[in-house]
Amino acid sequence: MTRILVTGGAGYVGAVSVEAFLAAGHDVVVLDDLSTGHRSAVPDGARLIVGDYTDRATAAAVFAEESIDAILHCAARSLVGESIEQPARYFGENVGGGIGFLESARTAGVMRFVLSSSAAVYGVPDETPIPEDAPLRPVNPYGESKRSLEAAMAWYGRAYGMRSVSLRYFNVAGATDDIGEDHDPETHLIPAILRSVEAGRTVTIFGGDYPTRDGTNVRDYIHVADLADAHLRAIEATGAIGSTAGDGGGGEGFLVCNLGNGDGFTNLDVLRAAEAIVGRTIPHRIGPRRPGDPPILVASATRAADVLHWRPQRPSLEEMVRSARAWRQAHPGGYAD
Ligand code: UFG
Repeated sequence: MTRILVTGGAGYVGAVSVEAFLAAGHDVVVLDDLSTGHRSAVPDGARLIVGDYTDRATAAAVFAEESIDAILHCAARSLVGESIEQPARYFGENVGGGIGFLESARTAGVMRFVLSSSAAVYGVPDETPIPEDAPLRPVNPYGESKRSLEAAMAWYGRAYGMRSVSLRYFNVAGATDDIGEDHDPETHLIPAILRSVEAGRTVTIFGGDYPTRDGTNVRDYIHVADLADAHLRAIEATGAIGSTAGDGGGGEGFLVCNLGNGDGFTNLDVLRAAEAIVGRTIPHRIGPRRPGDPPILVASATRAADVLHWRPQRPSLEEMVRSARAWRQAHPGGYAD
């Protein structure tokens, strides 16, 4: 049994990861300030500490009191558009706060660290599917903030022997029975479509003139429960990162893995999948492009398969939409808190 601290464990990805850790028999402490998370999303069996990971005294107190073995760091600001308008917030919290938190972990002797990272580190890629060693050229402060924290983790591995894994998510979707996506504002495509259906609104697809099959953006969707399984494997791998070659390949204690299915779906494919699930036509219009959207983001996820022995079990887009819809129907209006 490992005692795992999950920052952001009251958020969507964090809470589903907590569920997976508990199911695997680990002990979980959640640190979340509930600024975007929900108290009722924290699974029974995990201990919730309401606090801010960027506060050094809070982090030090958690490490002093909780005998943490390993960390999953999900807490972060994560809106691309907001990051362009408020870079100070992203550099201050995600980068400054994140590196301070990493340092608090090191000084407390907690040397196993897993980061929620993002496809946003790649910017507009030259090749698709995108391998982990593609150039990192983020096109917004959100992606830049994840790249910065990854860089610190790599150097902490070399200098201090920290063992860390950065998981670069592509488009996370779907729900478990108890945990779903509930953001305000909701910027993500699948929950935005489902909310539009509930409210009888027309869905706006951002851009119809991209160089893709049907003119709309292509994304690689990954079920949140598959993502959580990868987190469990990553935490376990920090117990023993081996000698795979190359920077970020696991040598010197730092491993980077993309998490996606390797399949690209256009925004109109997603709309059609939602129509199949709700059983009717969903009115939509093609609006202007959303600034900062790369045309195509599809993962090469072979490293996660090779190194973490991870295989997505729920690759069907319909299943992701179906579970997201089932969660919303069971939780009308989202979480109560
Ligand atoms: N979209 C619409 N209409 C909507 C909402 C989204 O057309 O109402 C489109 C977007 O323009 C994009 C696609 O649906 O083409 C997916 O958008 P999401 O916001 O769901 O996801 P993104 O691909 O923008 O974002 C994901 C992660 C981010 C990460 C980013 C990397 O959610 O955290 O990939 O580019 F930063």
